[in-house]
Amino acid sequence: MKNVLLGCTGSVASIKIPEILEKLKENSEISVKLVVTEHSQHFLPPLESLGVDYLTDTHEWDCWKSRGDPVLHIELRKWADICIVAPLDANTLAKVANGQADNLLTCVLRAWDFTKPIVVAPAMNTYMFEHPVTRPQLQTIQGWGYTVLEPQVKTLVCGDKGTGAMASVETILESINSVLV
Ligand SMILES: Cc1cc2nc3c(=O)[nH]c(=O)nc-3n(C[C@H](O)[C@H](O)[C@H](O)COP(=O)(O)O)c2cc1C
Repeated sequence: MKNVLLGCTGSVASIKIPEILEKLKENSEISVKLVVTEHSQHFLPPLESLGVDYLTDTHEWDCWKSRGDPVLHIELRKWADICIVAPLDANTLAKVANGQADNLLTCVLRAWDFTKPIVVAPAMNTYMFEHPVTRPQLQTIQGWGYTVLEPQVKTLVCGDKGTGAMASVETILESINSVLV
């Protein structure tokens, strides 16, 4: 059994999370936990309906009451055999590239063990993607060992056409399967 930690952030591409989870659940050899940011939840159905263990910032803080209690982001870092953040939005990319850790997801990423695979699928409006800050941040995290699934060129949910759409669900699943063999 392999443990897959799926993170999602406040990109509209989080509407793909139910589809990604359904496909992951078809593989009986993997166990999945979902870590959501506060803003990603705007794009998700009720978390209880997803049929998977999910973790929010509230879980992180409720877990720890006194010395000896588990620190959730460290437990998740130990539990996971792979982490994939899909979608990775511009805000969380910037935070990760700068070492910030202000929620459950970024704390897991800040504590990541780079002997284990970590994959991200950036998703943002073309104007955001083409901003000069984006590529250096992606290169920074690639230099640490992140695999970046490049966004696609297509008409975005906002109606603009250009680069920034999250890699396809198939690409995301292939990347998980390829590192778990
Ligand atoms: C309707 C809507 C759609 C958004 N889509 C994206 C997106 O696709 N990519 C992105 O980088 N930010 C997007 N944002 C902005 C993020 O949600 C915002 O930066 C948020 O603070 C991200 O928080 P998080 O990184 O903690 O999840 C969107 C915001 C709104 C209101």
